[in-house]
Amino acid sequence: MYTIKGCLFDMDGVIVDTAKHHFTAWKALAEELSIPFTSKDNEALKGLGRLDSLEKILQLGNLELNSNTKLKLMENKNSLYLELVRSMSEEDILPGVCGLIEELKVKGIGVCLGSSSRNASIILKNIGLFNLFDGVVDGNHLTFSKPDPEVFIKGAKILELSPSNCVVFEDAVAGVEAAKSGGFFALGVGDHKELDNADAVVSDLSKMNFSKLLEIVNRND
Ligand code: G1P
Ligand code: MG
Repeated sequence: MYTIKGCLFDMDGVIVDTAKHHFTAWKALAEELSIPFTSKDNEALKGLGRLDSLEKILQLGNLELNSNTKLKLMENKNSLYLELVRSMSEEDILPGVCGLIEELKVKGIGVCLGSSSRNASIILKNIGLFNLFDGVVDGNHLTFSKPDPEVFIKGAKILELSPSNCVVFEDAVAGVEAAKSGGFFALGVGDHKELDNADAVVSDLSKMNFSKLLEIVNRND
């Protein structure tokens, strides 16, 4: 019987649908550099930090740029992204997320955010969820971005829990890889085929609750 003592949530694409705004902003940058960039290409950026995401796009265009140009490009991308997410509110929280987190808190389960984004705190505050989390680990606290497990290891430390007692909720291939290599139970949220490296996959969190989570985790035992 697997004991769940903590849950670590990715933000973009799990808690809130910001993935579409990242795509719009990265696509604008790619177009400026005349690099073709599709939503399929964007899948590979999910879960990666800002610089790693930019490097992926530059690879697609076989382009090498100096670090000042890269900084400028990332600044522009982020300004556009911040404009797109500025109007986000609690209405943009994905279905099932609030109910699940509230239930976990009532049950005394530790709840932590594990995101590669450096904008995580701003977004959590905009959607009114910041205070629900026992800890927030984001891109500002990381040396290595996903697929490195650092983000989730740091989260488990804040919760004072062992990774083997924690479930990670992830919508990105890189995030699932990070969870697996850190010794967590990786619950993919999204497409089964895309996230086939996860321990289990659900299409979304709309019907998720703690007893269902226990069932899923123990089914895999
Ligand atoms: C970063 C990346 C983005 C990636 C996201 C994952 O966000 O820019 O490509 O999908 O993390 O959460 P940023 O720090 O720019 O908000
Ligand atoms: Mg994500």
